[in-house]
Amino acid sequence: MEAVTFNDLGSQKVLRSPASFYARLREHEPLTPFTFGAIKIWLVATTYDETALLLKDPRFVRDIHHVFPEGIPPALQQFIQQGGETLQLLSQNMLSLDPPDHTRLRGLVSKAFTPRMIEQLRPRIQQIADELLDAVQARGQMDLVADFAYPLPMSVISEMLGIPPEDRAQFRSLTQALLAGAMTPDQKWQTTGESFISYIKKQLAARREKPGDDLMSNLLQAREQDDMLTEDELVSMIWLLIVAGHETTVNLLSNGALALLLFPEQLRLLRTNPGLIPSAVEELLRLTAPVLFASKRMAREDLTLHDQLIHRGDVIYISTAAANTDPEKFSDPQNLDVSRQENRHLIFGKGIHSCLGAPLARLEGQIAFSTLLARLPNLRLACEPESLEWNPLFNLRSLKSLPVSF
Ligand code: HEM
Repeated sequence: MEAVTFNDLGSQKVLRSPASFYARLREHEPLTPFTFGAIKIWLVATTYDETALLLKDPRFVRDIHHVFPEGIPPALQQFIQQGGETLQLLSQNMLSLDPPDHTRLRGLVSKAFTPRMIEQLRPRIQQIADELLDAVQARGQMDLVADFAYPLPMSVISEMLGIPPEDRAQFRSLTQALLAGAMTPDQKWQTTGESFISYIKKQLAARREKPGDDLMSNLLQAREQDDMLTEDELVSMIWLLIVAGHETTVNLLSNGALALLLFPEQLRLLRTNPGLIPSAVEELLRLTAPVLFASKRMAREDLTLHDQLIHRGDVIYISTAAANTDPEKFSDPQNLDVSRQENRHLIFGKGIHSCLGAPLARLEGQIAFSTLLARLPNLRLACEPESLEWNPLFNLRSLKSLPVSF
């Protein structure tokens, strides 16, 4: 297999069919190293069973202070400083921390994301999906990303947090710019991050004046009354919930709709058997890879993996796309089968950092696809599939647009 460069990962070729690319890596090149300044990054694309173990492996941690308790080496320190205060502040959320801080922060919001709490959102999510389709139905065409897949999860997480409707449109370009520049944060990245942070601080100030019945007000209360989190942790938590709450689900809805349009017999099967919606959503999560990797981990000690020496401080990204197409675990893994029953995919990760929003993502997916199919019986692609483009990100599979007609 030809050597893989980091740019290949965000290339149109790979993003068009990641399942086959990561399956090839799993078979031929389970570990691929890249160097970014003082940081060595390993992509791990391996079997389902090994992935499941690695995702919970205590030799990997999130907080660099736990990797180097004696002090961060100067070269690494310099690299981190390139991201400035913005990077440091935005890294103080549960995804970037280990216990006990991780446990404390996750505990503050986990109640809002239990399957029971999320189920209560069903009527409102249905209403949002219907309103989005009301706005385009007469037109007979839409960009499924801009008109449906983006505004649906964005509205849901914004309403949970209490973010005003008129502010939501700006988040897509801000989060995309922050995600795209995260590997090499420069001055422009910092400025973008600062404007996001100052927006969140303004929202918090408004809630201090006039608390509402929303997650942001509840978190602020936890900060002010119970002293459960610092101001920076509060800002970073809100930023994580905004980004994680929409960037991934947009991809589930848009890549998922595309997959159904490209497998018309599966689309027909689903239309005639709406009871298959829950298994269809699991299958779209597995095969269309809204995210391609679990989140960043760092080796806390030197260790050997597939005969390669991983040093303390090295970063690893574990490919869920490779695990989710392992033929040892899934029969005919490259094929979309909306009625697949054995489907314990790893798209939401595993272990203490496994996706907090999984029940919400699943419910949004089920409502979105059932509403699209029920209301747009003649849904079809309005462009050549070859002309579609994905944003050049290595870890998210994010379609730029998806023109459809109906
Ligand atoms: C299709 C949709 C989604 C996918 C594929 C997805 C995937 C993931 C993955 C892979 C992780 C990291 C797991 C690990 O590294 O072991 C994660 C963490 C997380 N996700 Fe999601 N996610 C989705 C939707 C959501 C939604 C809707 C929210 C709502 C706020 C959310 C909030 C979070 C949070 C807060 C974490 C960090 C958990 C922790 O560190 O303890 N996600 N997600």
